[in-house]
Amino acid sequence: MASATLTPAQLCSGKSGIFSPSQTGVMKPRKNQMMGKGRTLKITCQANSISADRVPDMGKRQLMNLLLLGAISLPTAGMLIPYTAFFVPPGSGSASGGTVAKDATGNDVIAEQWLKTHGPGDRTLTQGLKGDPTYLVVEKDRTLATYGINAVCTHLGCVVPWNKAENKFICPCHGSQYNDQGRVVRGPAPLSLALAHCDVNIDDGKVVFVPWVETDFRTGEDPWWA
Ligand code: FES
Repeated sequence: MASATLTPAQLCSGKSGIFSPSQTGVMKPRKNQMMGKGRTLKITCQANSISADRVPDMGKRQLMNLLLLGAISLPTAGMLIPYTAFFVPPGSGSASGGTVAKDATGNDVIAEQWLKTHGPGDRTLTQGLKGDPTYLVVEKDRTLATYGINAVCTHLGCVVPWNKAENKFICPCHGSQYNDQGRVVRGPAPLSLALAHCDVNIDDGKVVFVPWVETDFRTGEDPWWA
């Protein structure tokens, strides 16, 4: 190599553009070192040369920063997405702004399949808007009623069961009664059971509950729950 034949002054001269005279003074030999002056200076210049070669240019540093950012971001996003999804109620946010009804096992209710196993006059609980228990009503002509009945008693919030023999909803907590459409007929419940629109999605046949904000057809009054 060329450095083997050059003198220390030549190797570390300011003219090289890499090594300055001040740098050559940093690596002076200690008292108990047995090296000659020339050899010490040669080592100093080699170390500085290697250090300068190892400094990556700006493009490489930016690339490394991007790789590091990607390596951190991907696992972080992977953790955040399920964490965020945990707080979103299942079944909410359909295209129509409604909520797909769920059966007792948590599956989406498909209207056609439901009507094969639920006859005329049937009132069976499903999971409706905001997770409230909501009755699906089958009409006498074997079609689904266009309304669902919220089963939460308007007295103190018990879930009101359907009594087929009495053709009423009868609350087991304090005896309030509602007719087959959920209109209150006996207290202490002060109000009728809330309603929700019950639609069938034409694309997949799923039953969808939509908030009822119009006049209550049972009383002719504004809905108290809207
Ligand atoms: S909670 Fe239903 S009657 Fe009291």
